[in-house]
Amino acid sequence: MQSNEAKSDSCRRFQFTSRQNDINFSININEKYSTSYGYHVWPSAPVLAQFVAHFREEFKDKNIVELGAGTGMVGIVAAKVGAQVVLTDSHQYPECLRLCRQNVDINGVKDNIVAIESLDWGQLDEHVLQMPAFDYILSSDCFYDQKDFEDILSSVSFLIDKHHKKGTIFYTTYQERNSDWSIECLLNKWGLKCDYICLDDFEANTGCIAGSDISSKHTIHLLKITKHLENH
Ligand SMILES: C[S@@+](CC[C@H](N)C(=O)[O-])C[C@H]1O[C@@H](n2cnc3c(N)ncnc32)[C@H](O)[C@@H]1O
Repeated sequence: MQSNEAKSDSCRRFQFTSRQNDINFSININEKYSTSYGYHVWPSAPVLAQFVAHFREEFKDKNIVELGAGTGMVGIVAAKVGAQVVLTDSHQYPECLRLCRQNVDINGVKDNIVAIESLDWGQLDEHVLQMPAFDYILSSDCFYDQKDFEDILSSVSFLIDKHHKKGTIFYTTYQERNSDWSIECLLNKWGLKCDYICLDDFEANTGCIAGSDISSKHTIHLLKITKHLENH
């Protein structure tokens, strides 16, 4: 039986700074020892969090939804730089959503800045239909199982289309696991296009991101995914 409490087993600290010394804040993220994917910070998360911290002016005062948020690390950084954030994960993992809540609370982020809600990729239930317009969609390490790729992209396409927010941008980091995997056909199918963003552009091409080396042993990519203009 699952406990109602998201008891944490360890806590990681991430310190965000920049070469210009114009960023300096830290966050603490509780993790749980479990085989469930959402209970750990995955190597892609500090990379996307670093991107958000580095380009914080782009995200300030914007509405953001994070898909497959896991511990909530990326969304918490977005909130720290001034965004309004909805952290989401599957309804199948209520304890993961509770861990998100715990991490939001320990970082002193207020309830009116971050909401935590369930969102299952590929499912357009009433709750998703009623979601507000978002300027950005974020996800880290959600493209890890090919069976989910179309569900993720269909949700992204829906979130962009539903609100006629032509400018909605989806930023996603993924860990290279199988060089044969590709989302190109699915992007075409859903009217989406993507560009790679170089990690050098935001001081993430280093062995240590935000004071942590958890991303250093993996090849991580950042994609910017948008709708083809002719679809609007
Ligand atoms: C590899 S973890 C990445 C967690 C976090 N974003 C990170 O990078 O540390 C994948 C996340 O996707 C969530 N997830 C898996 N299947 C899902 C689904 N069908 N709908 C929504 N979220 C899902 C998991 O619960 C987990 O939090």
